[in-house]
Amino acid sequence: MSVLIGGAWPYANGSLHLGHIASLLPGDIVARYYRLKGEDVLYVSGSDCNGTPIAIRAKQSGVTPKEIADQYHTEFHECFKKLGFSYDIYSRTDTPQHHQVVQEIFLKLLENDMVYKKKIEQAYCETCEQFLPDRFVEGRCPNCLCDARGDQCDHCSKILEPLDLLDKKCKICGDTPVVRETEHFYFKLSALQEELQSYINKAKIEELWRENAVKLSERYVREGLQDRAVSRDLPIGVSVPVTGYEDKKIYVWIEAVAGYYSASKKWAEEKNEQVEHYWSKDTTSYYVHGKDNIPFHSIIWPAVLMGVNVEALPTRIVSNEYLTLEKKKLSTSKNWAVWIPEVVDRYHPDSIRYFLTINAPENRDTDFSFREFIYSHNSELLGAYGNFVNRTLKFIEKSFGGEVPKGEVDVEIQDKIKHLYTNVGSQIENTLFKDALEDLFSFIRDSNKYFDQEQPWVQIKESKLACQHTLATCVYIIVNLAQLLSPFLPFSSREVQRILRCNELQWNPIDYQGGSLSNVRPLFERIDVAEIEREVERLHLKSSL
Ligand code: MF3
Ligand code: ZN
Repeated sequence: MSVLIGGAWPYANGSLHLGHIASLLPGDIVARYYRLKGEDVLYVSGSDCNGTPIAIRAKQSGVTPKEIADQYHTEFHECFKKLGFSYDIYSRTDTPQHHQVVQEIFLKLLENDMVYKKKIEQAYCETCEQFLPDRFVEGRCPNCLCDARGDQCDHCSKILEPLDLLDKKCKICGDTPVVRETEHFYFKLSALQEELQSYINKAKIEELWRENAVKLSERYVREGLQDRAVSRDLPIGVSVPVTGYEDKKIYVWIEAVAGYYSASKKWAEEKNEQVEHYWSKDTTSYYVHGKDNIPFHSIIWPAVLMGVNVEALPTRIVSNEYLTLEKKKLSTSKNWAVWIPEVVDRYHPDSIRYFLTINAPENRDTDFSFREFIYSHNSELLGAYGNFVNRTLKFIEKSFGGEVPKGEVDVEIQDKIKHLYTNVGSQIENTLFKDALEDLFSFIRDSNKYFDQEQPWVQIKESKLACQHTLATCVYIIVNLAQLLSPFLPFSSREVQRILRCNELQWNPIDYQGGSLSNVRPLFERIDVAEIEREVERLHLKSSL
C-alpha cells in the first residue's frame, strides 16, 4: 500500500508558532506510524513563498521577496527538524520546478475546458496604484455584517468576493478603493457540483474526514458551487502561461495546493522513484492542516485533480480546530503567540509533541497554557513514562549489574501489548491521535502499578526468580513502549533504544534481545513550576494586547 501525507504549506513571511505545529503534527505521527508498519510512505510539504503577505513585507523592508522567503524557509526547516518532523521532502513554492508543474496543471485545465477567461470588475486602489488582492480589501461581511477580509468571512465562514464587502477599505493605506475592469481566468467549479457532492458524501459516510471538514464542505455544496477567479494581478507568484497574460499570477487556490504534487515529483526525480506510485487511486492520502485551510483541500484541490483527470483524490482530511493561548485567541499581529524558534530550545521536543497531541484541538478549540503544559510534562512524561523506564532500568543496574535478567514475560501483559498495537494502529489510521496517546499512557500507569504490586525490591530478597520475571516483563514493556510511542515521541523512543541497544523498530510486539544496558539516564528532567509564571509574564511583556 502507498501512503501520501501532505502537510499544509506555511507562508514564509513570519515565524512558526504553536498553532501551526498543533495543526501539522498529526502528519508526522501518521508518517512515522505507516513507515513502522512497512508501508511505502511519502510525506511532503514546503514553504509557501508566494502570496501578498510576503510581497508586502518585502516592499516595506526594502528587500526582495526571495530574501524574506529564504530567511523563513531556513528557519522553518530548522524548527521542523528540531521537533522531529520527518518530511521526505520539504520544498518551497518559488522553485522553477514548482512553477513549471503549476503551469502544466493550469494548461491542462484550460485544455479540458475547466478554466475560461472573463472580464470582471475588481477593487483598485488609486493611492497604491494597484489592484487589491482579496485579503487586502477589508470591510464588513454582507452576510453577517462582521468585519471581514475580501476572500472569506472568519466569522460566518462564507466565501466572499471582495467587491461584495460593505464599507471597503484598502488594507495597505486605508483609502477606499474604486472599481475597475480587468480580465481574469475562472475555474469552472460549478461543472463539478455533482461529482464533488458525491465525493464529499462518500467521505462522510465512510467517516474519513474530520467533522468540521464534512460540515463546511457540505455547506459550500449546498449553497451551490460558484466558478472562481484563479488568476490575480500580483507582483510575485506563478505566471499565467498564456500569451498576453504573463503578468497575471495563478492564485493560491490552485497554486499552493499543487505543491503537494510538485514536491512529490521533485522527490521522485531526486530519488529515482515513480511519482505515480504515490498518486494512484489506490494510494491512501492524508491532508493535514488547520480549519482555515479546509476548502483548499476538501473542494478546490479535489476539483483541480478531477479537472486534470487524476484519480488520486484526498482520502483523509485532517483539519484541526484552533489552539488558543492562555484562553485567548492567538494573534500574530498582537504578538500573542508562542514562537517555535524560542521554545524549541527551551523544552524537550517530546514535551511539546506530547502536549499538542494529548490536548490537540481535534474536534474543538483547545487551550495551551504554560501551567497545563509544564504540569503535563512533569506528571505524565516524567512522572509516569520516564519514571517507569527509569525505576526499572536503575533497579537492573543496581541489582543485576546492568545485565537485563532473563525471565518469563507475564502473559497477560503480552496480551495487552498485542492489543495496543492493533488498537493504537487503528486509532492512528482513523486520525484519533489523542485517544491513541491516552490509551498508551493509561497502559503506562498500569505498568507502574504492576511494578508497585510485584515489588521487585522485596522479590530480590525472597525469590530471585520472581524478581527476574518481573524485570523481564518490565523491560519487555519498555522495548514495546518505545515502538508504540515512537510516532508520537520519537526522541525519547530513540533514547530508550540507545539504552537497550536495540535498533529495529516495527509495528509488532518484539522481544528484548538480551544484553547489558548502556549508560542509563533519565528520559526527562523535571521542569521547575516557577517557570510557569516566568513564561506567562514573558508572554504579556512581549504582547501589545
Ligand atoms: N500558505 C497558505 C495558507 O497558509 C496555503 C496553505 S494550504 C496548502 O493559507 F495547500 F498550500 F498547503
Ligand atoms: Zn491603498
